[in-house]
Amino acid sequence: MIVMAVPGTGVLVLAAGKGTRMKSDTPKVLLELLDEPLLFYPMNSTDDPGFSGRAVVVGYGSEAVSRYLEEAWPGTEMIVQREQLGTGHAVFTACEWVSRFERVIIIPGDVPLMAKETLTRLNTRNIEADEDCTFLVFEPSDPTGYGRVLDTDRGFRIIEEKDALEHEKKCCRVNSGVYVFRSGPLLEQLENIGRENSQGEYYLTDVIHRLCEGEKRVGIMTCPDPDEMEGVNDPLQLDRVSRILRGRILDRHMRNGLKCVDSQTVWIGPGVVLGDDVTVEPFVQVWGASKIGDRSRLGSFSIVRNSVLGENVHLLGHVVISDSVAKDDSTLGPFTFVRDGSVLGEGAFAGKFVEIKKSIIGERSKIPHLSYIGDATVGKGSNIGAGTVTCNFDGKKKNPTTIGEDCFVGSDTMLVAPVSLGDGCYTAAGSVITKDVPAESLAIGRARQKNIEGWALKRKKTDGGGE
Ligand code: UD1
Ligand code: CA
Repeated sequence: MIVMAVPGTGVLVLAAGKGTRMKSDTPKVLLELLDEPLLFYPMNSTDDPGFSGRAVVVGYGSEAVSRYLEEAWPGTEMIVQREQLGTGHAVFTACEWVSRFERVIIIPGDVPLMAKETLTRLNTRNIEADEDCTFLVFEPSDPTGYGRVLDTDRGFRIIEEKDALEHEKKCCRVNSGVYVFRSGPLLEQLENIGRENSQGEYYLTDVIHRLCEGEKRVGIMTCPDPDEMEGVNDPLQLDRVSRILRGRILDRHMRNGLKCVDSQTVWIGPGVVLGDDVTVEPFVQVWGASKIGDRSRLGSFSIVRNSVLGENVHLLGHVVISDSVAKDDSTLGPFTFVRDGSVLGEGAFAGKFVEIKKSIIGERSKIPHLSYIGDATVGKGSNIGAGTVTCNFDGKKKNPTTIGEDCFVGSDTMLVAPVSLGDGCYTAAGSVITKDVPAESLAIGRARQKNIEGWALKRKKTDGGGE
């Protein structure tokens, strides 16, 4: 759904605050909410080419916040608020930028659940009612901590929790922190606000009162779903919004056919794409830019991160797969770790206590048990015996291993890289392979077994047979 915006509307995201109530050195907007920084969400809900510009006010931890924005939202303008003297001061810091637009939408960086549609409605309302300011209000089950929106003779006045009198605190209608302003009147009033309040801050909310007093047109719009406007100021609120968001994402997927054995224990990130008829067992997490193909099944305690699973892929349980691909009909687990750009070909199998790092595993190849495969390429139809290790690290650098098609690597083979095995070859169990193996041959790299007959009997006699 595209947000309707008139040319001449800029979006300003306020993200300079430290988030003191979070009790963390990490800037609040970079704290994670379902695998994305908090700031991802307001950026996502205001991501629309219809807007003429978008800027973020950064301040506390500005280097880290800027780095995130440059990577995830390239082209975003950043305005640095060196001292965080309040929301009014944050907008004032951006006044030159704001003056470029006829209108500006202001949105806090810590209100992550707002839907794009709500912003569209607010914007439309502002234009149709021709208001100097339209802002979103809502009625949470517990209004504590929010600015109360009080009626006055001339319009509205927002009183912050810390400044409110007891009877004012009883007001359940609160400010969401999301506003559409006409830039001219906003900038005019920003010049006039003071910091005579309990926090000694310049409150953006004071602009509302001043606009009303100046007989400007100010309107409110109530958001019917209070969850959408929930702010994140402390760890409890972070937990609350994360549970709300988790439920919403799962509902959306289940409406499209996702089957959950127990949805209460499943976590799916906002950027995940699921095919048709996927089944997820209890305690599964799917994060980042992961894609799960049709009819795949994710077994319990599996974690999929930034990975692509093809159709009919089966994670048997306890599989961790990150930044990797498992193609159609492949099977993994239980207890398998696949990482760093690995690719499992169609119909391949990686089983119990197997780690695969930066390796390509060919179609139908099998690594059933207890192996480490790193920096390796395995051709089609090969079988890697239990306990096989690619000895890829020589203490200085990582070396590659190449295993051809239809190979049979005997159990407990140590492949000392760099080394390569030609197509169709075998290695004997327990071999240490240090030289390349030509195609269609058998490599044995271990001491030959010697049986000494009668040895045990002799020993018993010398020991006197006792214990
Ligand atoms: C603010 C509103 C309150 C509203 C609530 C909704 C004010 C004075 N109060 O309170 O009426 O109910 O949001 O969630 O506006 N920020 C800066 N620079 C600063 C201070 C804050 O960029 O100097 C940013 C923060 O990073 C944050 C946003 O502005 O993303 C809101 O600031 P916060 O301190 O969380 O305000 P609230 O107390 O929640
Ligand atoms: Ca807040």
